Amino acid sequence: MDSKPLYEPFSPELLADPYPIYKKLRDEAPVSYHPKLDFWTLSRFADVMQALQKPRLYSSAQGIAVGMDTQMTNVFDAVITMDPPRHTQMRTLVNRAFTPRRIAELAPRVLEVATALIDDFIEKGSCDLVGDFAAPFPTIVIAELLGVPTEDQKMFKEKSNALVNQQRLPDEVPDPARMAPILELVQYLNKVFDERRKQPREDLISALLAAEVDGQKLTQSEVTGFALLLLIAGNETTTNLLGNGFQLMHEHPDQRARLAAAPAALPDAIEEFLRYESPVPGLARTLTEDVDYRGHAFRSGQKVMLLYGSANRDERQFEAPDVFDTSRKPTQHLAFGFGTHFCLGASLARLEARIGFEQVLAHMPEYTLLEGAERNAGGIRGFAQLPTAFKAGAGATE
Ligand code: HEM
Repeated sequence: MDSKPLYEPFSPELLADPYPIYKKLRDEAPVSYHPKLDFWTLSRFADVMQALQKPRLYSSAQGIAVGMDTQMTNVFDAVITMDPPRHTQMRTLVNRAFTPRRIAELAPRVLEVATALIDDFIEKGSCDLVGDFAAPFPTIVIAELLGVPTEDQKMFKEKSNALVNQQRLPDEVPDPARMAPILELVQYLNKVFDERRKQPREDLISALLAAEVDGQKLTQSEVTGFALLLLIAGNETTTNLLGNGFQLMHEHPDQRARLAAAPAALPDAIEEFLRYESPVPGLARTLTEDVDYRGHAFRSGQKVMLLYGSANRDERQFEAPDVFDTSRKPTQHLAFGFGTHFCLGASLARLEARIGFEQVLAHMPEYTLLEGAERNAGGIRGFAQLPTAFKAGAGATE
C-alpha cells in the first residue's frame, strides 16, 4: 500500500494547525510509519511516556530530529544528544546552576529585565509582543547566566533563530550559506572562552571551562556545544511559551481578566499554556535494538518521533483536552519532556514566564493583537511576531 503518511514532519498543514492531524494519528494510527524517511511516530501519551522511560532503547545520541540535515544536529555536542553514562556526567556539571532554589534567587534580576523592556515601549501604545518582549527577555537572562556580554544579545537571537529554523529534508540541496550564522556564533563564543580562560568570572562559561569529568577537562567542542544548547534551548522555547500565552489570553479575554486580577493563578495557567500549545511539538530518538512494539516491527537504527504536543492533547490522559482552561488543576504534561532528558531549564522557564506574564498584564491588561501575527517557519510552535496595541502609558513603572 502506498498511502501518504499521516505525519509529514515539514508539511504546511502541520505547521499551521497540527491538532486535527494529531487527533487522527492518535485515533487511527497511534504507531505510524513514514516509509520515505524510515521513522515511526508515537502520538498517544502512554506510548510517548513508555519510550521516555527507556532511554537505552530509545537513544538520543544520534540526534533528536527526523529527516534533518546531520550537519546541523552535529553542532550540538551536548547533553541533549548524549546517552547515559556520559549524559549523567555532563548534566551533573550544570545541574547545580539550575535547581529551583538557585533559579528563585534570579527573580529580582529577571523582574528588572522584564520591566526595562516594557518601559521601552509602554508610552508608544503599540509594540511587537514577540520582537520587543518575548524574544529579547529570555535571551538577556540566559546570556547573563552564561557570562556572554548582553550587548550581543540581538546577534544571539538572530543566530539562534537561524539554527532552530534550519529544517530541511536530507535530499534537499545543501546550502552552505545556511551554516554561516552558526559558525559565526561558534567563533564568537570561542573568543569569549579565551577571555574567560585568562580571567575567570562567576558565570557558567567559566564554570564549564574549569569543570572536570574523571580528571579530564571538557573538550572545546563540548564547552561550545553546552553553551550553544543553553543559549538556544533557553531562548526559543521560552519566547514561544510567552508568545503562545499572549495569543491564547487575547483569544480568551475572560481568562485574561481573571489572571490580571489574580496573578497568583499564573503558575497553574502557565502549565495549561504549555499543555495546550507545547512549544516543542516533538523530538525523536533512535532505536538501539530490534523490538516488537504493539505488533509493529521496530528495527535497530530507525528513528521514533515522540509527539509531545499530541500526547498533551490525548483524550485518554486529559479530560476535554481541546478545551483551553487556565483554571484546570495541572497534571503531568510532557511539554518539558520526561525522565533522563527532562528540561534542565524548566524552573528558569517557569520563573521567566510568571514574571513576564505578570508584568505584561500589570502594564497593559487589555492589549489587542493586531493583523500581521506571524507563525514561526520552523518546528517550534509559536509566533515570530505579534503586533499589539494597548492603552499608552497604562501602569508604566516609575
Ligand atoms: C518554555 C520553555 C521550555 C520548553 C518548552 C523546553 C522544552 C524542553 C524539552 C521538551 C526538553 C526535552 C528534550 C528531549 O526530550 O530530548 C528539554 C530539554 C532541555 N532544555 Fe528545555 N525547554 C524550555 C526552556 C529551557 C530553558 C530556559 C533552558 C536553559 C536554561 C533549557 C535547557 C534545556 C536543556 C539543556 C535540555 C537538555 C536536557 C538533557 O538532555 O538532559 N530549556 N527542554
